[in-house]
Amino acid sequence: MKKRQKLGLKKSSKNIIGIIGVGYVGLPLAVKFSDHFNTICYDNDKIRVNELIKGYDRNLNFKSNSLSKKKLRFTYDHNILKKCNVFIITLPTPVDKNNLPDLKMVKDATLKISNILKINDFIIFESTFYPGTVDNILIPILEKNSSLKYDRDFHVGYSPERINPGDKKHKLENIKKIVSSNSIIGKKKIKYLYKKIITAGLFEVSSTKAAELSKILENSQRFVNIALVNQISTLCNKMNIQTKEVIDAAASKWNFMKFYPGLVGGHCVAVDPLYLSYIQNSLGLSSSLISVAHKINNGKANEIVETVLKYKKRDSNKIKILILGATFKENCPDFRNSGILKIIKEFNKLKIIPDLHDPYIINKKDKIFFEYKFNQISKLKSSKYNIILVGVGHEMYKKLGINKIKKLSIKKNCKIIDLKSIFSKKRVSYQL
Ligand SMILES: NC(=O)c1ccc[n+]([C@@H]2O[C@H](COP(=O)([O-])OP(=O)(O)OC[C@H]3O[C@@H](n4cnc5c(N)ncnc54)[C@H](O)[C@@H]3O)[C@@H](O)[C@H]2O)c1
Repeated sequence: MKKRQKLGLKKSSKNIIGIIGVGYVGLPLAVKFSDHFNTICYDNDKIRVNELIKGYDRNLNFKSNSLSKKKLRFTYDHNILKKCNVFIITLPTPVDKNNLPDLKMVKDATLKISNILKINDFIIFESTFYPGTVDNILIPILEKNSSLKYDRDFHVGYSPERINPGDKKHKLENIKKIVSSNSIIGKKKIKYLYKKIITAGLFEVSSTKAAELSKILENSQRFVNIALVNQISTLCNKMNIQTKEVIDAAASKWNFMKFYPGLVGGHCVAVDPLYLSYIQNSLGLSSSLISVAHKINNGKANEIVETVLKYKKRDSNKIKILILGATFKENCPDFRNSGILKIIKEFNKLKIIPDLHDPYIINKKDKIFFEYKFNQISKLKSSKYNIILVGVGHEMYKKLGINKIKKLSIKKNCKIIDLKSIFSKKRVSYQL
């Protein structure tokens, strides 16, 4: 008997993969899997699905030729998923207003899948969870509604995603992928499937809870280290020392890890540490390191606002502020948990409405911008501003160069705040 048959999988041409949630994580997976299997992408956002059907990816990761592949199909009709024997769940896992894990989207979707689950089906979760989510929350949902028995009738795997939006070098296929399952057959199934699409190799983890924890550890490590350099940068600015120079000097030692100060945003590094502190707290353990790091990283936006206000005070009252860039990171259209938007909110509280330029703002009326007041600038005009805050290191600002950015200013005393240190320190007024 062939290996895949023993695993309860079908011939490649007969397996049908269902991807639930076709965003930054789901779409690359779907595009890759559809080289080998029929792949159905289900998303409950009709607008997104219709855009994908027309060949447009608003996340700008794929051109239309990648989306029009023979084995790739997009739908908002959940019934179509009944045909699938493998389900991969790539739904958002944000935090609520109290910074606690919000698993609602994943739980609802898992419940819907449990209603169409069949013998031998395989469910893989890719969303970021705190350890124990798959075992204690999701498998019970699958069992309860389907009346099927986990590890006898169906199997479950977990493979946290490591994709890095806007990164042209590290792509799904060339990033080593963690795979896990609690059952022998689940481990074999997940390896069989992912070996087809990942060229960098797989890293097998013995249980789903260890794999869940490994993912939040990756991002919590970044979060805590960024907090350290954020404090160092406050000290550097107080003592008139260049932070970057200090970091580069320290990094000349072999075992120093380089991190740079900044606003922590996005859907991963800003959120995953809160999943870690949630599980620590719920087990009665200390989460103090994450709490302190969270406070420090969150405080960075206010520190920047205070710097702007200091410059504003020194100048006239008729201050014009321009912000260049508001995505949470460079060269990608993702505004989730953007630190620059937080700064805009602080400005708004002080009745300051800045001009904002970002080539990735397609629709200012998008609900992500509802809480923020700014004038969207699509064409940069010379001689207008007293304070220019370069918030994101988009390629286009690097290409524009500091000389042209300086030309946007009212010549006298214009302050340039370069949050990403993309220009020489000598040419700007402030860097972190
Ligand atoms: N974005 C990243 O770079 C990244 C990297 C690694 C891990 N992750 C993790 O992967 C998961 C997914 O993140 P993402 O960035 O791809 O999210 P996303 O917001 O880009 O995409 C999620 C998609 O799910 C859809 N959706 C929401 N609820 C749904 C439902 N009930 N049924 C069907 N579709 C639904 C949304 O319309 C959206 O298209 C999260 O847990 C995240 O932490 C993200």
